[in-house]
Amino acid sequence: MASSPFYTLFFLLVLLGFSAAESATDDCDPLNGTCPADAALSTEATFWFNSTLNDKLWDMQTGEADYTSEGAEFSIKAENGSTLLVSNFYIFFGVMEVHAKMATGRGIISSVILQSDDKDEIDWEWVGYNTSAVQSDFFGKGNTTTSDRGGIHYAADANTTFHNYTTYWDEERLEWWIDGDLRRTVNYSEALTLYGKNYPQTPSRVKVAIWPVGIASESVGNIEWGGGLVNWDDLPFTMTVQRIRVKDFSSGKEYEYEGTSGSYDSIKIVSGNSTASEEIHKAPAKTLAEKWADLGEGAHIGVYCGAAAAGGILVAVFSWWCIRQRRQGRLQRALDDASNGQELKNLEQYQAQWGQANWGTRQSYQKVP
Ligand SMILES: *[C@@H]1O[C@H](CO)[C@@H](O)[C@H](O)[C@H]1NC(C)=O
Ligand SMILES: *[C@@H]1O[C@H](CO)[C@@H](O)[C@H](O)[C@H]1NC(C)=O
Ligand SMILES: *[C@@H]1O[C@H](CO)[C@@H](O)[C@H](O)[C@H]1NC(C)=O
Ligand SMILES: *[C@@H]1O[C@H](CO)[C@@H](O)[C@H](O)[C@H]1NC(C)=O
Ligand SMILES: *[C@@H]1O[C@H](CO)[C@@H](O)[C@H](O)[C@H]1NC(C)=O
Ligand SMILES: *[C@@H]1O[C@H](CO)[C@@H](O)[C@H](O)[C@H]1NC(C)=O
Ligand SMILES: *[C@@H]1O[C@H](CO)[C@@H](O)[C@H](O)[C@H]1NC(C)=O
Ligand SMILES: *[C@@H]1O[C@H](CO)[C@@H](O)[C@H](O)[C@H]1NC(C)=O
Ligand SMILES: *[C@@H]1O[C@H](CO)[C@@H](O)[C@H](O)[C@H]1NC(C)=O
Repeated sequence: MASSPFYTLFFLLVLLGFSAAESATDDCDPLNGTCPADAALSTEATFWFNSTLNDKLWDMQTGEADYTSEGAEFSIKAENGSTLLVSNFYIFFGVMEVHAKMATGRGIISSVILQSDDKDEIDWEWVGYNTSAVQSDFFGKGNTTTSDRGGIHYAADANTTFHNYTTYWDEERLEWWIDGDLRRTVNYSEALTLYGKNYPQTPSRVKVAIWPVGIASESVGNIEWGGGLVNWDDLPFTMTVQRIRVKDFSSGKEYEYEGTSGSYDSIKIVSGNSTASEEIHKAPAKTLAEKWADLGEGAHIGVYCGAAAAGGILVAVFSWWCIRQRRQGRLQRALDDASNGQELKNLEQYQAQWGQANWGTRQSYQKVP
């Protein structure tokens, strides 16, 4: 069985230099000092993955998604490749429902998890060699000393059929549901959670990843868990996510760790409006006709009057301009006439002078009477 694959993945990504795009909260361990507060989801939302995700709410940290009418495809397209999508919002207890198809292939892990900044973790993981199973797992504060918390659950044709994988999480219990059937419960206080100490209990965000565990740099235990080394001749490996519903049981603007215990009663819910919730409930951009209808009759009359007044002013200005143009036209003509007259006079004088000047030399010239 695995020691925390995600913990391992984290260090692997750091080693491979994939950490550059990670946000400040990724680097900050709230159990080791003060970190920025976690943005709250503070609502319930269903995200359909058939079109580009809102980048104010989701962060494609590694790789890219291919959007199809079925959902988003997350693929490993090259040796040692991986993808990682992270929500920018956190829930402080709640529900996460994912409809997904796992990737097929030995050593390939498809995963949709909730994870907090101090590495509390609630997992759905599909190990690519068994397309009839999904694994449930959890971690508290990144403690990977033992790997006895995982569960394996039957899910028919998980690589070709979308199933509804739902985690329910509150301060009393953790539940994993598949297609409406409760498959596993972990109570807050039981041996596996060290009687609450390692129970996941801090604000968590959604992470969707496909990554290879069957590679030489992984531990022997991890490689065994994945079913052996990846066969890179089988590229690409693809998991498809149709949709994710997330419900936050808390409501507020953000979540703050007070002190370094990492226990749920040390989390302060900062009141205010959540930016994620505002983004989700933001009305779609209205058409001009809808905006017009929204104004109401009083406003319509006002606008008509305004338009009429504006029209009146335009007519007045236009009339003034026309008159001015006509006046200017008359004046110009007068000026033109005047100068034409002058030219004519000049020409007559010139002709006269010319005539006189040539009188004696051009004998044939007959002065026109
Ligand atoms: C805790 O923070 C200090 C400095 O802020 C750092 O040197 C140390 O490595 C951190 N420890 C852990 C476990 O993150
Ligand atoms: C995505 O799927 C939802 C639900 O079936 C549907 O309402 C929506 O129109 C789809 N969007 C696209 C871009 O296909
Ligand atoms: C799904 O899994 C089955 C059994 O492992 C396999 O035969 C089939 O090729 C897989 N289908 C896809 C699309 O990966
Ligand atoms: C980590 O877990 C092991 C076994 O589950 C436990 O013995 C140990 O005390 C835990 N460590 C911490 C720091 O909680
Ligand atoms: C896959 O997992 C299911 C459920 O645990 C199990 O019944 C089946 O034997 C496993 N198949 C393989 C190939 O390991
Ligand atoms: C998915 O399963 C959960 C838990 O049983 C349930 O509450 C939810 O309504 C299901 N979703 C759909 C779309 O059926
Ligand atoms: C969890 O708690 C319920 C009662 O709330 C109890 O019936 C069940 O046995 C407990 N499970 C474990 C594993 O302790
Ligand atoms: C993939 O990673 C392994 C170590 O796990 C390394 O030996 C191998 O060279 C890497 N392959 C590529 C193409 O980077
Ligand atoms: C929060 O949102 C509500 C309505 O959505 C609004 O009335 C209120 O002023 C907002 N509060 C703050 C602090 O922005």
